[in-house]
Amino acid sequence: MALLEVTNVKKSFKGLTVFKDLSLNVNKGEIVGLIGPNGAGKTTLFNLITGFHKPDQGSITFEGQAITGLQPHLICKKGIVRTFQIVKPFPKLTIFKNIRIGAYKLVTDKKIAEQKANEVIRALDFEGEKHMLPSQLTIGGLKKLEFARALATYPRLLLMDETMAGLNPTEQDAMIDMIKKINYAGITIFIIEHHMKVIMSLSHRVIVLNDERKIAEGTPQEVSRNEEVLKAYLGDSRAC
Ligand SMILES: Nc1ncnc2c1ncn2[C@@H]1O[C@H](COP(=O)(O)OP(=O)(O)OP(=O)(O)O)[C@@H](O)[C@H]1O
Ligand SMILES: [Mg+2]
Repeated sequence: MALLEVTNVKKSFKGLTVFKDLSLNVNKGEIVGLIGPNGAGKTTLFNLITGFHKPDQGSITFEGQAITGLQPHLICKKGIVRTFQIVKPFPKLTIFKNIRIGAYKLVTDKKIAEQKANEVIRALDFEGEKHMLPSQLTIGGLKKLEFARALATYPRLLLMDETMAGLNPTEQDAMIDMIKKINYAGITIFIIEHHMKVIMSLSHRVIVLNDERKIAEGTPQEVSRNEEVLKAYLGDSRAC
């Protein structure tokens, strides 16, 4: 049994079909990369998994239990959490308090929530920024905050939506190391990323979406050689 199973999912928005019949799995312990051109439905898939949208048809299971159409906070309680493509911190709260809010999604005890927030801050080497406001952070710092808030919920599956966008190469390398570290610590990762370097160096397996469906799946090397994937990214101009 896979950790996450998406089976025969159909989703459309007012006549625009995003997926006709999508099936895919993520196994426990994996880092799975999700790629595809703009508008291929990557964020929509994350919205379906985390309960922000409901599929028109099909099912989604996590650890063998149906989660299709559950409210986002219930899905979070089951151990799936996401980061957003557009970072949305609470602007008037310190970095520490922003991260503590993540922990409160799962525990009600203030001491435990603070303990968890401090644990994440230490693990991500965020101590220097702990008492700052989000407005004092660089884009790299904001992305790290988004990551930290997600980790503070004790996820078993972390969905990351374009975490590297706006980061410089050094910040990207630091984020890659952090992702590897938390995966090694037992958190399964499903990651959307446009930077091929990131996908190639992180993913055990890559899934490619385009044209309302999954067009390819395999190791980074297999996918990067796939004709349909190359065509989706480069268009027919390659034939000239
Ligand atoms: N809430 C919504 N209402 C209507 N259409 C939507 C909604 N969310 C997504 N779409 C449409 O669904 C399609 C897939 O969008 P989605 O954001 O999932 O793509 P994506 O693969 O994440 O793209 P990008 O790489 O640009 O982030 C697009 O055509 C988008 O306009
Ligand atoms: Mg997107």
